[in-house]
Amino acid sequence: MKAIQILGSQDDHNVILSNSLPRPIPTGNQVLIKVHAAGITADEIIWPELYASPNRVPGHDISGTVESLGSQYEGPLSLGQNVYAMIDAEAPQGGQAEYVIAMPNEIAIKPSSISHAEAAAIPIPALTAWEALFKRTNLDHGSKILVTGASGAVGVMFVQIAKKLLSAEVIALASTSSNTMLAELGANQVVDYNNLNWHQGIHDVDAVFDTVGGEILTKTWSTVKKSGIVVTVADPAPKWAFGRGQPEELQDHPEVRWLHFILSPDGDTLSRVASLIDDGTLKPIPVVAFEAERAIEAWKFAAQRGRKGKAVLEFVAEK
Ligand SMILES: NC(=O)c1ccc[n+]([C@@H]2O[C@H](COP(=O)([O-])OP(=O)(O)OC[C@H]3O[C@@H](n4cnc5c(N)ncnc54)[C@H](OP(=O)(O)O)[C@@H]3O)[C@@H](O)[C@H]2O)c1
Repeated sequence: MKAIQILGSQDDHNVILSNSLPRPIPTGNQVLIKVHAAGITADEIIWPELYASPNRVPGHDISGTVESLGSQYEGPLSLGQNVYAMIDAEAPQGGQAEYVIAMPNEIAIKPSSISHAEAAAIPIPALTAWEALFKRTNLDHGSKILVTGASGAVGVMFVQIAKKLLSAEVIALASTSSNTMLAELGANQVVDYNNLNWHQGIHDVDAVFDTVGGEILTKTWSTVKKSGIVVTVADPAPKWAFGRGQPEELQDHPEVRWLHFILSPDGDTLSRVASLIDDGTLKPIPVVAFEAERAIEAWKFAAQRGRKGKAVLEFVAEK
């Protein structure tokens, strides 16, 4: 089957389109999905688990159809159904291939109102925002929230879910070129990160949801109220992530809580997100689709700053 592979090392790698990998066979309760489209998260090219995987096929977010079911599968899916999923980072093969194995708890019925390419952009961004907002924090409705990297794939989902499901007051940090899009998604205020003192005008937020890290994350600490929380998912993660110590900012903000986490696959949440997309509550993430044959170009595009749209690879052309 056709599959993208990342050859080389974390420091020196190249993207290839291979034609020699065998089509996986589902066993037990596994589900084989014929991949129509797969999302690209550019940072994955430096994730160690990709280099530890047997065939180095990247990609976790997919949309496609159920091709076959393991002999012990007893769930509701049937052959030919349109589904989307986030494949676990530890899975032996990623989703940028014509076929991929997914576990039942990773899969949901695809939103029917959007294309496979649009659906393939949604799982990681939506699951990250959902986990941060509903599983990792316990914010009141109407909370004041600062989202950094708000024009990115994860940011777009943070802004919308916080606004629509938590009635939050959302401050979005992004370049001015995203003002219109973010206002349409419900941001109350868009603050331009090109103004180096952007943080000085923001006060007393209940929570920061950071997708950028580095200096941007450092500056967010001064915007949070005394008992607020700073949550980051940025890659590279801050020095204090993974239990490696405490943020230096605690010296000046001792009562602020802080959290970094890595998301988990969750088919049930994807089902809820699909309903919210189909009923118009949530808008899909803008995408730029590339045929699998243009994988090198797609991966380069995915790594660019300021691009409009998430890169998605198509293994089956959309009708
Ligand atoms: N921990 C987890 O579980 C988890 C889950 C999902 C994603 N992530 C990580 O979260 C990050 C965001 O993912 P994504 O898919 O949303 O990426 P993305 O679509 O590329 O978006 C990145 C966003 O960050 C902004 N940005 C980048 N550098 C910036 C800087 N120096 N100053 C201000 N803004 C900056 C970009 O703005 P411009 O377009 O204006 O450059 C864009 O809005 C990535 O690092 C990803 O690896 C982690």
